Amino acid sequence: MRDEANGRAKKGIVNRRRFVGMVTASALGATMWRKSKVYSLSGAPQLLGANERIGVGLIGCGGRGMHLGRVVRELSHKGVNAQIVAVCDIYRPRLERAAKEFNARAYMDVKELVTDKDVDAVIVATPDRLHVFNSLEAVRAGKDVYCEKPLTHWQQFELLKQLVREVKAKERVFQVGTQWLSDSVWHQAAELIKQGAIGKPLHAQCGYFRHGDWGERGMPIDDPNAKPGPDLNWEAFLADAPKRAFDVSRFFRWRMYMDYAGGPCTDLYPHCLTPVVKALGVAFPKTVVAVGGKYRYDGERDVPDTFDMLIQYPEGITVVVLGTIANEWGIPTLIRGEDATMLFEGHGIVIQPQGAVKKERREIKRERGASDEEHMRNFIECVRTRQKTYSDIDLGYHVQTALIMGMLSFVHSKVATFDPHAETIKLV
Ligand SMILES: NC(=O)c1ccc[n+]([C@@H]2O[C@H](COP(=O)([O-])OP(=O)(O)OC[C@H]3O[C@@H](n4cnc5c(N)ncnc54)[C@H](O)[C@@H]3O)[C@@H](O)[C@H]2O)c1
Repeated sequence: MRDEANGRAKKGIVNRRRFVGMVTASALGATMWRKSKVYSLSGAPQLLGANERIGVGLIGCGGRGMHLGRVVRELSHKGVNAQIVAVCDIYRPRLERAAKEFNARAYMDVKELVTDKDVDAVIVATPDRLHVFNSLEAVRAGKDVYCEKPLTHWQQFELLKQLVREVKAKERVFQVGTQWLSDSVWHQAAELIKQGAIGKPLHAQCGYFRHGDWGERGMPIDDPNAKPGPDLNWEAFLADAPKRAFDVSRFFRWRMYMDYAGGPCTDLYPHCLTPVVKALGVAFPKTVVAVGGKYRYDGERDVPDTFDMLIQYPEGITVVVLGTIANEWGIPTLIRGEDATMLFEGHGIVIQPQGAVKKERREIKRERGASDEEHMRNFIECVRTRQKTYSDIDLGYHVQTALIMGMLSFVHSKVATFDPHAETIKLV
């Protein structure tokens, strides 16, 4: 036992005693967070100096969280002054792995991480159902947030509204992890459409197609004998999901279940729909209708593998979002206007006039491609400058509302309508 403990310590793995020490240190930090460099005693946001380090807390140390932590580290090697200073996970083996890799303080409770005085901003990379709770904890503690998509689970519309309200009230910088938005073409497209480059936009299409259920059934089961206890907090994983007995598959492969995920609509369509909503400059849908099902992959899984939706906007625009994980032959993203069609090609944007319209075909070069690194760099820069991020909370709210309406339409076999005054969804 002793030797094993020594060996673990030598290898730098966080053992239980050191871990408790870290948590105690964080409790001390809890009383001091208001002295943090980002916030004045009044709680109003202050600008960070160009040379001050931004301390990042990573919440959720699974596949995506570890990747984003490495993105932050890579950026710091390129001169961006930011560092992962604290990590949080409710499953101890992943927490210890992350604490070791990033040489960061470890917490098993988000509430503790957000009171760490060295944490200026957090990355939320937990399962979908936890995003809103983790983000609210961070916002309430005065931290800025990079939150993975989807912004919330599809059953959390009221919590989504609460998050939007609190982010705004606390003037927090917020980036949704829809990294396609770091591609300049969507911002260029938005400007062009505003200037009338395609006439009135009427119709748009986008989709997400791939082959295989590796994203759900293929999620790694780190330990088939894992059990709830001091090393795995099942209650914290469930949050507001239906109370169920622990199940290894539900914990590690949560994307297969409607209680924690939603299939292509909530997992994949934030990527393809957010750029189109940005380019069109629309906000809330008027009506959404969706169909889908388990056409190819069944068994234990209960999320659909195929999902198609029609979103009608009050401006008189329909957006078609199609996709399946059973076939990779996709559809091009394009926007149809009354004068021309906007196409998105490898080199940038093409504006192709309709036959009868006397306008020139135009090609507009992409200024910057999309990457996780650019999306994170933009977030860190905005934490410093307090500017709007590429994929900010308003855009996230509008897109997530459409996705939630799509899920409700699918689940209840009804049409989802939106009341913009009351900001409520009705099923008819
Ligand atoms: N933007 C992208 O391209 C992209 C890619 C992959 C995943 N994601 C998103 O990232 C999120 C995480 O996905 P993943 O594949 O890394 O999942 P994962 O299961 O590998 O990791 C999630 C981690 O969160 C931990 N966790 C669960 N409940 C927690 C809680 N209450 N507090 C703290 N930690 C908790 C789990 O123990 C696990 O280690 C998902 O919402 C997913 O949609 C985004």
